[in-house]
Amino acid sequence: MKKITIAIDGYSSCGKSTMAKDLAREIGYIYIDSGAMYRAVTLYSLQKGFFTEKGIETEALKAAMPDIHISFRLNPETQRPMTFLNGTNVEEAIRSMEVSSHVSPIAALGFVRKALVKQQQEMGKAKGIVMDGRDIGTVVFPDAELKIFVTASAAIRAQRRYDELKSKGQEASYEKILENVEERDRIDQTREVSPLRQADDAILLDNSHMSIAEQKQWLTEKFQAAING
Ligand code: DC
Repeated sequence: MKKITIAIDGYSSCGKSTMAKDLAREIGYIYIDSGAMYRAVTLYSLQKGFFTEKGIETEALKAAMPDIHISFRLNPETQRPMTFLNGTNVEEAIRSMEVSSHVSPIAALGFVRKALVKQQQEMGKAKGIVMDGRDIGTVVFPDAELKIFVTASAAIRAQRRYDELKSKGQEASYEKILENVEERDRIDQTREVSPLRQADDAILLDNSHMSIAEQKQWLTEKFQAAING
């Protein structure tokens, strides 16, 4: 069967990566979380002390880019991808609050984006890949056969994150989360380099009022149509 490229972009906290991961597993494609790559560069920058009171030491980071090697390996037990930075498993470290709160300015640096996009394009050369992010359908794989742009209302995304934190027994304030979701939307959409936007040929998926099962069904139909098209 012919293999295609699938680009899944959209707002933060709308379930993009779970959806992309599940789809990839089901159809036997490689899954790449491009956000994890921006997070890995952020972790590296934090470790090297590139964040200073005056801002990011961009020249030092630029010089270090060739030394930052990011790869993905499947966890043999869970079959979930783990992110490696220079040979070390950083899957947990890149999800920390510290990394989350420093990643936006790193993802706004043109030279970082250029280097990561190049690696992402390399990973997708053989097709059979599902990649999720913010600029996959617009910049990384403009020729992807299937492009999906995922969204849900800010209130619903905030509620989902609130429920998730609560279910893990963590303290959470709905108002604070909503503020954070809206702030991240604003940064993602207004940054100068590769802002978040729906590609002209992407299919819009608003999952505000969809169950996981309904979303899965929707996605399977779009995939079937794309491989037969
Ligand atoms: O999807 P995420 O929250 O793990 O993404 C982390 C950050 O990286 C977020 O600030 C958006 C940014 N990002 C990006 O600019 N381009 C991508 N292709 C993926 C993520």
